[in-house]
Amino acid sequence: MKKIKNICCIGAGYVGGPTMSVIASKCPEITVNVVDINQKRIDLWNHEDLDKLPIYEPGLKEVVGKARGKNLFFSTEVDRAIDEADMIFISVNTPTKTYGKGKGQAADLKYIELCARNIAKVAVNDKIVVEKSTLPVRTAEALKSILENTGNNVNFEILSNPEFLAEGTAIDDLLDADRILIGGADTPSGQEAKDALSWVYEHWLPKERILQTNVWSSELSKLVANAFLAQRVSSINSISALCERTDANVAEVSKAIGYDSRIGSRFLNSSVGFGGSCFQKDILNLVYIAKSFGLQEVADYWEQVIIMNDYQKRRFADNIIATLYNTVSGKKIAFYGWAFKKDTNDTRESAAIYVADALLEENANIVVYDPKVSKETIYADLEYLGNKSREEIEKLVTVVNDPIEAAKDAHAIAVLTEWDEFKEYDWQAIHDLMLKPAFVFDGRRILDHKKMEALGFKFYKIGQNGS
Ligand code: NAD
Ligand code: UDX
Repeated sequence: MKKIKNICCIGAGYVGGPTMSVIASKCPEITVNVVDINQKRIDLWNHEDLDKLPIYEPGLKEVVGKARGKNLFFSTEVDRAIDEADMIFISVNTPTKTYGKGKGQAADLKYIELCARNIAKVAVNDKIVVEKSTLPVRTAEALKSILENTGNNVNFEILSNPEFLAEGTAIDDLLDADRILIGGADTPSGQEAKDALSWVYEHWLPKERILQTNVWSSELSKLVANAFLAQRVSSINSISALCERTDANVAEVSKAIGYDSRIGSRFLNSSVGFGGSCFQKDILNLVYIAKSFGLQEVADYWEQVIIMNDYQKRRFADNIIATLYNTVSGKKIAFYGWAFKKDTNDTRESAAIYVADALLEENANIVVYDPKVSKETIYADLEYLGNKSREEIEKLVTVVNDPIEAAKDAHAIAVLTEWDEFKEYDWQAIHDLMLKPAFVFDGRRILDHKKMEALGFKFYKIGQNGS
């Protein structure tokens, strides 16, 4: 069986960085080069202070510290890394298209195509090319066409190996993956490539967890997995609205249905809405693919997951406005959390951005505290929406490093991310500092209703009307 000696990964982001760090730490005999065109990002991956890595993930700095400089290298020397590798992972971003055909739904594959053209230009010996990025079903076909038609008579074997890690738990997810999915051609060379990639993962995972499929099933399974997970969140969020009207408690409903082993308990936590770089993008992509095959009913079915998520974010903002006597103009509202979930500094598609935008429309003053997100990121997230100028944003939004300072003279606090530290705060002290009546809107259901009311707060929790 072909044993891989040198791996190149193009794209040193939330997937490429952690995934390759784990591969390098588990496979000391394989040299792993992670390359990116973003010099700043690479410099941070090489920073001698491991607390300065470009991504915050529990356990990441330990894994990087173990392998970096030994068999794990970060650089911008893309061509050299391609040349030296026998296996090349493409792990670049595949955002939703913001222009042209499929705008707002289809995946933008320009970065993928650039990588393929670069590999074709540089490669002078046979390579296994692995799609690690999440891609529309049948992308491998386009990749193959680019590689075969512009290459130097080199044999390229294309595999699909989607990544299922979740941010905040990336290292644990990689070390103890539920499954590894490898799609490839049903030919002798395709089988050899699939086995070569399996062998890499078999360094630390049992063989039974490594699934081999055809390439199209693998590409499609990634979109479907994210669609199913997001669908569960939207389903329970739809019920949260009904709970608030009927005095049912969404946590009790989740528990009751989750005890059914056919349903299961995970991904049934009602929230202010799902965020992250994957769920929305991948569902929109699924919707686009279904439409492009003329499957309108299939497209409509999955689009509803996004519509429900938008409704949930809007509903949360509307409730704040309505509860604060129908006006938030000039009122100080503290945001606890900006990241799309706890234990990450990633804010892509975070619900906080959209809730803030709705409140800014009403001229609220927002003060944000998040333990891991920088002021620059928060301003950039709001600016990206294009609804307010940078100047207006900086006037209305303040970012602070201290949660207590955020609460001082605030009319309300909105909990947007479920950071553990929020549960540990001295909420009595916070209450004392706020304007009265002091409102708290818990979009993550992490605070205790009875305790908060006993402290004197007017307390609102998604999916639960009263304690
Ligand atoms: P990211 O934006 O964090 O990182 C992508 C990196 O690729 C960037 O640093 C960018 O500079 C680099 N890049 C782009 N074009 C390049 C080129 N031509 N040459 C070299 N480098 C280039 O993205 P991410 O979150 O790591 O996601 C990557 C892919 O993995 C996406 O398809 C995403 O859908 C998928 N995915 C993401 C997650 C997640 O949790 N973030 C999980 C599973 C799958
Ligand atoms: C997701 C998939 O879980 C992962 O397998 C895939 O590789 C990438 O996309 P990620 O987006 O990093 O991972 O985090 P995830 O834990 O799935 O959470 C996504 C969003 O849903 C977050 O905003 C989270 O707060 C929210 N969520 C999740 C809920 O609101 N309720 C839940 O019960 C679970």
